Amino acid sequence: MPTQAQRPLLLPFFLTTFLVYSQPISTVASPEPAFSPSNGSDYIRSSCGATLYPEICYTSLSRYASAVQKKPGRLARVAIGVSLSRARRMAEYVSNLSRQSDFGADHRAAAALHDCFSNLGDAVDEIHGSLKQMRQIGAAGSSAESFLFQMSNVQTWMSAALTDEETCTDGFEDVGDGAVKTEVCNRAADVKKFTSNALALVNSYAATGTP
Ligand SMILES: *[C@@H]1O[C@H](CO)[C@@H](O)[C@H](O)[C@H]1NC(C)=O
Ligand SMILES: *[C@@H]1O[C@H](CO)[C@@H](O)[C@H](O)[C@H]1NC(C)=O
Repeated sequence: MPTQAQRPLLLPFFLTTFLVYSQPISTVASPEPAFSPSNGSDYIRSSCGATLYPEICYTSLSRYASAVQKKPGRLARVAIGVSLSRARRMAEYVSNLSRQSDFGADHRAAAALHDCFSNLGDAVDEIHGSLKQMRQIGAAGSSAESFLFQMSNVQTWMSAALTDEETCTDGFEDVGDGAVKTEVCNRAADVKKFTSNALALVNSYAATGTP
């Protein structure tokens, strides 16, 4: 516990330290503003440049700037989280659609929707597995070797999820044009962008070689 007697001694000390160290910083002309807030949003924008859909990447991830800071692992993890929630929402949408739609004699449309739902379920599992793996990375004592192994799992699962999302709409190739087909294909294309971006950020993180 600091006593009242100690305080007057400490204060001048801090004051001198502050003056000594702040002087060179303020006199040296720096191209950056003196107290430039590094909130991670610039970092996210530049990292998103490595993805196929940089605008979607930035708009979906910039809200996590303060949590991400400049950490590639955190960025990859939030991107996987966003991709997971998108895939889950699409699976729920497709499930709703197959319950609500009356396909009548259009068995192909019903089957295509069923297959799509099943593929999305696989994608959700793979993305969820990736997220769990990412949470284990960087745990105490993890070596570079185990990092690369864990990252290769995440890369494999995210690639598989992307393939499953692609496969989702395959069954619709034989289905005539209609509102359901259009809507499902548009949504699948959208979900794929988030997964693709997350995979690109996962690859960037793996390339750093360290947790
Ligand atoms: C981060 O900084 C940029 C520019 O410095 C600013 O436009 C943006 O609103 C900030 N974002 C957050 C979440 O604080
Ligand atoms: C699915 O249906 C439920 C109940 O009708 C609804 O609350 C939910 O918003 C729907 N979800 C999607 C993604 O369309």
